[in-house]
Amino acid sequence: MLMLWMPKKSSWCLLALAVVLTSLFAGGHQQDVVLAKDMKFKLHSRDLMPLVGFGTYQVRGADLIKDVLDKSFAAGYRLVDSAAVYGNEKEIGIALKELLPKHNLTRKDIFITTKLSPDDQGEKAYDALEKSLKNLDCEYIDLYLIHWPGKHGVNASKEENSVARDLSWQHMVKGVKNGLVRNIGVSNYNVRHMKELLGNNHGIKPAVNQVEWHPHYHQPELLELCKKEGVLLQAYSSLGGSDNRELLDNAEVKTIAGKLGKTPAQVLLRWALQQNIAIIPKARSQKHIEENIDLNFTIPEEDMKTLSSFSQKKYAWDPDTIA
Ligand SMILES: NC(=O)c1ccc[n+]([C@@H]2O[C@H](COP(=O)([O-])OP(=O)(O)OC[C@H]3O[C@@H](n4cnc5c(N)ncnc54)[C@H](OP(=O)(O)O)[C@@H]3O)[C@@H](O)[C@H]2O)c1
Repeated sequence: MLMLWMPKKSSWCLLALAVVLTSLFAGGHQQDVVLAKDMKFKLHSRDLMPLVGFGTYQVRGADLIKDVLDKSFAAGYRLVDSAAVYGNEKEIGIALKELLPKHNLTRKDIFITTKLSPDDQGEKAYDALEKSLKNLDCEYIDLYLIHWPGKHGVNASKEENSVARDLSWQHMVKGVKNGLVRNIGVSNYNVRHMKELLGNNHGIKPAVNQVEWHPHYHQPELLELCKKEGVLLQAYSSLGGSDNRELLDNAEVKTIAGKLGKTPAQVLLRWALQQNIAIIPKARSQKHIEENIDLNFTIPEEDMKTLSSFSQKKYAWDPDTIA
């Protein structure tokens, strides 16, 4: 197995190489390749972040959390994506106590992401970070994201949103300095929000921007900016989100999947990965959990182009409205 060690400036170049190498697996060169489950991106802190993670939005209740995390660790996932607003941090913390030893893992083998609630944007951000860490009951959080560029209860057009997210960032920088969290980043930031933060980062550049990204919604300009700045773009709702089968049932996605001998979900996930974008699919069944990390194949260039040329429509909340 090739170990990835990526110098800071060239993280994105080496990530591209690793993505190509995963495709060789299908050709039988198993000893020289990086499997999707082992692909990592080197963050500004030099921490290595898995490119394939497990999403937990709407995954609630101690039994369900333990069950899906058990299955996902067995399948090879090493990143868990949570958020204060998902209401499952405590259950994840409890499950980890039992599951890490069960899977012969320690805390450092797992990458935990959680997010600042829009309710706590601004002056409450440091307390919110401490609360998430307490809920998760682990020594540190790997990645803490500002969930949304706005502040709950403030009119979207108001400058107060910008002031509040800048204050959140200052508290998060303090959180890194005090050892509560190792990396900080953002979610649902558009190009304008990113440029604002990059121009005034209080000493720490964002590590990650987690955004909606699937064939019906992608933003090449945002990807370019993130690549230029060494910020990892992480896709959410790659399959279209919960209770939405539009992409999974799309005729072109199905045709490409049939041609490659893969499922539509695998094609949608590999499409993002092949653009050097991290993914965090959510699934409940063992079959889905396993197939969503079994992504060692290549989508031919012409099919990548077809998938990238779908009409654009947003499924999730729209940050462009936030000043
Ligand atoms: N930062 C943000 O604002 C934000 C917003 C949304 C999501 N997220 C994060 O991103 C994660 C993923 O996004 P998402 O939860 O919206 O949706 P998603 O991963 O796009 O889709 C999840 C849905 O797809 C189904 N599914 C999973 N694997 C499948 C497969 N192989 N074949 C067919 N169906 C499959 C799941 O059903 P089953 O559960 O029945 O398997 C579930 O209904 C979230 O869980 C969360 O961690 C972040």
